[in-house]
Amino acid sequence: MISQIKNKIVPKNEKLYHVGISTKDINCAEIAILPGDPGRVQFLAELLDKNATKIKNNREYTSYLTTVNNQSVLIMSTGMGCPSVAIAVEELAMLGVKKFIRVGTTGAIQEKIELGDLILNSAAVRLEGTSSHYAPLEYPAVADFATTYLLKKSADELNIDLHIGIGISSDTFWPGQERYDGYRGFVLKKFKNSLKEWQSLGLLNFEMEASALFTICSVFGLQAACICCTIAKRTKSESVDKTKYNIGMEKIMKIIQNSISNGR
Ligand code: URA
Repeated sequence: MISQIKNKIVPKNEKLYHVGISTKDINCAEIAILPGDPGRVQFLAELLDKNATKIKNNREYTSYLTTVNNQSVLIMSTGMGCPSVAIAVEELAMLGVKKFIRVGTTGAIQEKIELGDLILNSAAVRLEGTSSHYAPLEYPAVADFATTYLLKKSADELNIDLHIGIGISSDTFWPGQERYDGYRGFVLKKFKNSLKEWQSLGLLNFEMEASALFTICSVFGLQAACICCTIAKRTKSESVDKTKYNIGMEKIMKIIQNSISNGR
């Protein structure tokens, strides 16, 4: 017999253990924007709403509440990597959040993608372990079609260019992304020449969170999308260059704000 699965929604005042916030704290927000870096949450929140208010700072989870088009929108950092994204999605889902938009940084692997360019991922390779705790590896990590399409539509309305395609979410910044400038400069055989192989398969970029977000949200029946700013051009260099970060993130937040303002 198939067991009945029942989604858990917690009482309005209950603060969840890791994120440290309640449904009441987020004013019943159903949309969450998820950057990785706790230190950038205020900057991003104020781009959406200059009256954004801080809710909580707990572990890697820093939360601000914003209002966009009379709607409450939560901005909460997830920290780096898929395990902490999984905790964020579990707890925010229990608070009633339905739509998750990851915003962050990425390393592009196709020559045509420049520093500062924006990438909207339609799906992600599951080069990580977290998502397999939710679904077998055969299950695809795919973004929510409607949310992704509406972000693209919003970018078009604002004349902001996007690269759209599949990314790779890696558990590691160095070996999984075939970087040799780490402490040991050593990459396992299974990752040697992997960057070239991903390129040949037409994949666009490396980052560290999207595949868990996509997999968990589709398993939960929730919506997820991911839009990133390029801070490493891997066809030229392994290093990170954040000179175009602010301008890229401003564009990303405009796209999201326009999309939400139009009731999407
Ligand atoms: N984030 C990543 O995971 N990789 C990069 O190269 C840049 C940002």
